[in-house]
Amino acid sequence: MIICVCRRISDRDIVRHARAGMGFDEIQLELGVATQCGRCEGCARDVVAQCSATSPTANIKQATHLLESHA
Ligand code: FES
Repeated sequence: MIICVCRRISDRDIVRHARAGMGFDEIQLELGVATQCGRCEGCARDVVAQCSATSPTANIKQATHLLESHA
């Protein structure tokens, strides 16, 4: 699905970069998402956030935080 109509960037493009460990700002620089009209920014940020929430690194960080809070 196209997220950014102005730059023709799909959710797959964003997911691929987010899974490579890039944050929204880095993805924006790399792909140019949300750099024209800006209407896609919220949606693009949601896609990045969903990838972060489901990435193994995020789960490890979350687990570490839980362990530390119980110590
Ligand atoms: S739709 Fe992404 S900048 Fe316009």
